[in-house]
Amino acid sequence: MSIRIRPEEPADASAIRRGLEAAFPTAAEARLVDLLRAGGHLTISLVAEQDDGKIVGHIAFSPVIVDGESAEQAGIGLAPLAVLPGHGRQGIGARLVREGLAACEAAGFGFVVVLGHPKYYRRFGFERADRRGLGNEYDADEAFLVLELRAGAIPARGGVVQYGAEFGEFTL
Ligand SMILES: CC(C)(COP(=O)(O)OP(=O)(O)OC[C@H]1O[C@@H](n2cnc3c(N)ncnc32)[C@H](O)[C@@H]1OP(=O)(O)O)[C@@H](O)C(=O)NCCC(=O)NCCS
Repeated sequence: MSIRIRPEEPADASAIRRGLEAAFPTAAEARLVDLLRAGGHLTISLVAEQDDGKIVGHIAFSPVIVDGESAEQAGIGLAPLAVLPGHGRQGIGARLVREGLAACEAAGFGFVVVLGHPKYYRRFGFERADRRGLGNEYDADEAFLVLELRAGAIPARGGVVQYGAEFGEFTL
């Protein structure tokens, strides 16, 4: 069955929620996406849709700031990414990431951060964020990664990357 990647539409919200609940051990990610959408911060949200209309994957991006500097809105955070159990290892996750990154670039974002498995994200060009002077609020080291989409977009002085309020006590 072929898969297409497209932006989410209003009617997709419940399928996205159910998919996130199935892909992750708890409903925390599903709730996070609902909160981001309600707050107008679900800046980029793509779904992977089968020919039969079934949604089998989802990726979200929401803005981040560095050291509380709202002027530096060039950054965006990837979270969460999910592919439905039973549909893994077919490249759906990779397509969501690649098309998501292209959408971030087209929207004018200069860099993307993610807290995730370094081995998985390195293939897309992500590198350790601490090597670019960027810290995080989750005590992550090698798992906190950054990809610069536009040369010079990562603040040269570095700083701590902060996700939106919706992330609250969420442990990525
Ligand atoms: C992680 C996830 C999105 C990958 O989706 P996918 O469609 O299977 O990914 P792809 O087919 O593009 O890539 C498969 C590769 O990812 C690797 N991979 C899959 N899940 C992984 C994981 N949890 N940790 C590390 N690597 C993983 C596979 O080993 C495979 O690597 P290979 O190509 O070198 O064999 C999917 O497994 C998932 O939804 N997992 C549960 C939710 C989750 O953990 N999301 C990520 C954190 S936000």
